[in-house]
Amino acid sequence: MRHFIYAANWKLNKSPKEADAFFQDFLGRLPKGGLGASPTGGKKQIVFFVPALTLSASLEAGRKSSGSNLELGLQNSYWEAKGAFTGENSASVAKEMGAEWLLVGHSERRSLFGETDADTAKKVAAGFQAGLAPMLCVGETLSEREAGKTIDVVRRQLQAVLQVEALKAKISSGSAFVIAYEPVWAIGTGKVATPEQASEVHQAIRKILTNELGEKIAQAISILYGGSVKPDNAKAIGGMPDIDGFLVGGASLEPASFAGLFGE
Ligand code: PGA
Repeated sequence: MRHFIYAANWKLNKSPKEADAFFQDFLGRLPKGGLGASPTGGKKQIVFFVPALTLSASLEAGRKSSGSNLELGLQNSYWEAKGAFTGENSASVAKEMGAEWLLVGHSERRSLFGETDADTAKKVAAGFQAGLAPMLCVGETLSEREAGKTIDVVRRQLQAVLQVEALKAKISSGSAFVIAYEPVWAIGTGKVATPEQASEVHQAIRKILTNELGEKIAQAISILYGGSVKPDNAKAIGGMPDIDGFLVGGASLEPASFAGLFGE
């Protein structure tokens, strides 16, 4: 049993006032009877990764939704919970505020802020430590795809986390942990992977998880697709084997386009 997750990644967008206005509109668009069950027997869930500075306002606004399975998370955190780390954010503070998720290793963190595989493992650990569910992003660049290295890259990014015994144990014990496959060449470019391209990588990820964690745990981990997901391509992608939801940037900024995904 695994959940189907609609995750919004607002990146560095939306002030507290804008977040409030978004939720006022968005909540009215949620299906009245809830989102229903996932095809794999779990729930359908909505997660918003908001900027740290709008977490409080987003939590406040999002609380007005009952029965929608709406949850919030940070887009990044430091791996230490506190101390002399000027300018960083703490996963445990986000948890205290009411967040439930932590996005880790988004390609913009890796390419613009120099985040390494080793850093992502420490951040996944920080998320677990704080009681947040980590969502680990993996994905290849265009040149890596063209060189036929897609699966090698994704395997390396997964192994960085799975090779840490404490993390493997945590995931094996059933702690909430999700993967987002986002081909870097499809993020914010309007170039979306074909449903077949996406599903091929998702199935490879599931196989890696199965080898590392066993069938039962691997089957329970949701693997989301991200990269130019929009209402008009979500249905085809979301219907493919081993695709358990979406991580959505641009199309999550407008209530109508994000809510438009629920029709998939
Ligand atoms: P996009 O972003 O939907 O705008 O391509 C996805 C992401 O970066 O998570």
